[in-house]
Amino acid sequence: MSPEKPGSIALYRRLVSYLKPTWHYFAISILGFIVYAATQPWLASIMKDIEETLNGGPDVNYLYVPLLALGIVLVRGTGEFVGNFFMALVARGLVHRLRTQSFDSMLLLPTRFFEDSSSGQLIYKVTALVENVTAAVTRALTIIIREGATSIALLGYMIWSNWKLTLIFLATAPLIALVVRWTSIRMRKLSKQMQQSRGVITHIAAESINGYKEIKAFEAQASESQRFRDASLKNMQQEVKRSLTSEAATPIVQFIYAVALSILLGIALYPSMNNGSMGELMAYVAAAALMPKSLRQLTTVNSVIQQGLAAAEDIFALLDEKPEHDPGQRELQTTRGDIVIQNLSFQYPGQDKHVLDNISLHIPAGKTVAIVGRSGSGKTTLAKLVARFYDYQQGNILIDGSDVREFTLKSYRRQISIVSQQVTLFNGTIGENIAFGLYQDASHDDILRAAKDAYVSEFLEQQPKGLDTLVGEDGVNLSGGQRQRVAIARALLKNAPILILDEATSALDNESESMIQAALEKVMRHRTTIVIAHRLSTIENADLIVVMDEGRIIESGSHQQLLANGGHYARLHSRQFADNGDIA
Ligand SMILES: Nc1ncnc2c1ncn2[C@@H]1O[C@H](COP(=O)(O)OP(=O)(O)OP(=O)(O)O)[C@@H](O)[C@H]1O
Ligand SMILES: [Mg+2]
Repeated sequence: MSPEKPGSIALYRRLVSYLKPTWHYFAISILGFIVYAATQPWLASIMKDIEETLNGGPDVNYLYVPLLALGIVLVRGTGEFVGNFFMALVARGLVHRLRTQSFDSMLLLPTRFFEDSSSGQLIYKVTALVENVTAAVTRALTIIIREGATSIALLGYMIWSNWKLTLIFLATAPLIALVVRWTSIRMRKLSKQMQQSRGVITHIAAESINGYKEIKAFEAQASESQRFRDASLKNMQQEVKRSLTSEAATPIVQFIYAVALSILLGIALYPSMNNGSMGELMAYVAAAALMPKSLRQLTTVNSVIQQGLAAAEDIFALLDEKPEHDPGQRELQTTRGDIVIQNLSFQYPGQDKHVLDNISLHIPAGKTVAIVGRSGSGKTTLAKLVARFYDYQQGNILIDGSDVREFTLKSYRRQISIVSQQVTLFNGTIGENIAFGLYQDASHDDILRAAKDAYVSEFLEQQPKGLDTLVGEDGVNLSGGQRQRVAIARALLKNAPILILDEATSALDNESESMIQAALEKVMRHRTTIVIAHRLSTIENADLIVVMDEGRIIESGSHQQLLANGGHYARLHSRQFADNGDIA
């Protein structure tokens, strides 16, 4: 209620700007609350009517007061209903807008953002935190308007009726403001902490749910339970502190007002003080006694506002997060797929180790380049840079002779199909997973062809529902190899001139692998392909094989050349074939 920082006003103004699309509902709601508020002093003034009726002699209308009271209550109820219902319309619209907006802006954020933030915190923000924000503008505004108008109406009536007595109440105002201010500052701080700890709870819960297999296998029930208990306990302590602050404020304010009220009663009961009519005084006291209810609601709502502002800061920070860097202006229409990498060096943001160190590589249009090398040598990172998941610091990547950064991300990525090392499937059918995103309206025939080419149809035949078989969350109903084949089919359906396969065949048995191999060779023929593989048997036919180590290219050539060289590749090769038992 009393914004203590200049930032709060800006914050609140930004929040209130979200009400614009539904301002007409908001206006109707306010009208309802004004009607409701106006009935309050009217109810108090009935005291005067009662007194006049009692002293009025035989010709007064005894039905007048009861009917009037009933009428006022009816008007008040209608006003309250209209006010509350239309405010609910505003509130739900606001939650919907904030939620979809923060979700949409999240989808555009750079890769780095997702690696740096906890998914639990993000989920909490998009689902639950928006409710807090909404409460600050709708429920709080409802109460501020309804009870604020009520207080003003009551105060106006009191001033009009006896302004001298009313001065007693006005004298308490600075004291009350002080209490409210103190609680505001404290509430904001505590709400921030509480938000954080609620996010941690969501995070731990999500992690444990996803990792149930590891938890069972490594008997981590006790340690996970403890981790969750600690987080929950911390949250509980913060919530208790917050309640303490918010619940203490109301009785303190009430007490300050009660002191003024009892002074008033003392004065009023003193015979020489009241020179007006008895009825007028009673009406005045009734109005003064109605005031604490509004005052209580106003102080309580302050905590809702502070909590909402704390939440809004977080939500707006998410909304203001810079989307993926996309400086390119040109649309890349079609590409031959000629890729040149020049002196490329890269380190992950915030780390000082070079993951890629001065890489130069030419991947000619329509050719297949295989990248091999030890785990952690930077193969996946190189593929991610080609797909522009990160901005690189040094060097260039050219496509058909132009710097890739000249093109818009969208048009550039349309030219690339990726099967990544960690395949993600979405909860839906196999068909939906193959025809994903932009390609969701692909024809049934195209989907079937992709499924056939990636040997998905081979296991589809055993499924009575075929393409309509549900894969479960992240494809849990499928085996590792089946998941990969679905991912390959998805990439094939995209039919892009550049194909990146990161360990695409690692989860396949020998037979499926050779089938996939045949299929891939077919699709690779017309495409520029980057294959990252651990199993060397899959890449013998590549046009060029590049060996990486610690972010550098240490060898390159064809399979035959590299074997003849007798270097790293030759050693890797002989070791693998010895392991496989292929060489007896
Ligand atoms: N998102 C990231 N943030 C920071 N460092 C990372 C990130 N991803 C990878 N790294 C680091 O970069 C290095 C190269 O990782 P990369 O995934 O490119 O290796 P790789 O050659 O694909 O290995 P593998 O064969 O095991 O898949 C590793 O040392 C890794 O720790
Ligand atoms: Mg990798």
